[in-house]
Amino acid sequence: MSTYDDRREFEENKRKQSLALGADKSAFNHSIELISELDKHDYSYLWSWMGVPIIQLPADVMATQEVIWATKPDIIIETGVARGGSVLFMASLLELMGNGTVIGVDIDIRAHNRDSIESHPMSKRVKLIEGGSADADTLAKVRAEIPENARVMVVLDSDHSRDHVLAECRAYGPMVTPGCYMVVADTLVGHLTAENAPKKRSKIWYQGNEPLSALRDYMTECDRFEVDEVLNGKLVLSSSPGGYVRCVR
Ligand SMILES: C[S@@+](CC[C@H](N)C(=O)[O-])C[C@H]1O[C@@H](n2cnc3c(N)ncnc32)[C@H](O)[C@@H]1O
Repeated sequence: MSTYDDRREFEENKRKQSLALGADKSAFNHSIELISELDKHDYSYLWSWMGVPIIQLPADVMATQEVIWATKPDIIIETGVARGGSVLFMASLLELMGNGTVIGVDIDIRAHNRDSIESHPMSKRVKLIEGGSADADTLAKVRAEIPENARVMVVLDSDHSRDHVLAECRAYGPMVTPGCYMVVADTLVGHLTAENAPKKRSKIWYQGNEPLSALRDYMTECDRFEVDEVLNGKLVLSSSPGGYVRCVR
């Protein structure tokens, strides 16, 4: 039995390979092609978390797990609840870690979705707020749920138009605490062309009117966030490349 502990080298190699992968334009272009192909089969709609639909690509679920474990937030705010898989996934991690609440904000929490969230074993770590995510009264309700000195993480996954995401960044960005992350979902659309942009959606977003443009604008007006190049580098088959930003001050 070997007693040599190679964990440090292993982690350093992960870091190097992730950065190299992030700089590999060919791999990224292939991933965009593949995701566009997969989207024809509604790939991001095919998964569930503990029985509840989660509208995410598997790489984003894994990346979010890494962020939550590494930063141990007390509060995670997610805008865009849909069927609830994502809030329940994050609530499951908080339950395993023994601390924290997920605040799920959605403009329309349908009765059957509310039922499946509220009857789920992980619901004790979820608080749902119905309302437009950037509306003043919704924001007041969200702020009222955040205890003093809480470590706060934010996931923005609601209306993906540029103006809405920028409004969300401005409203929720200041709630994120140093060391924690803001995840801006669906930044991939900022890399798509008119030909390969998803067509089968209730709203169509296109380059310039999407989350990546909003995040870039927000990061020029606010210096509190930095792109996590290691995490973003290895994402590859993700809806949110470049969307995982760490609050540094
Ligand atoms: C992409 S889905 C969210 C997926 C979910 N995060 C998951 O991973 O399963 C987008 C959701 O955003 C909600 N939404 C759209 N516009 C909104 C707004 N202005 N404020 C709050 N929620 C909104 C929709 O009702 C929808 O449920």
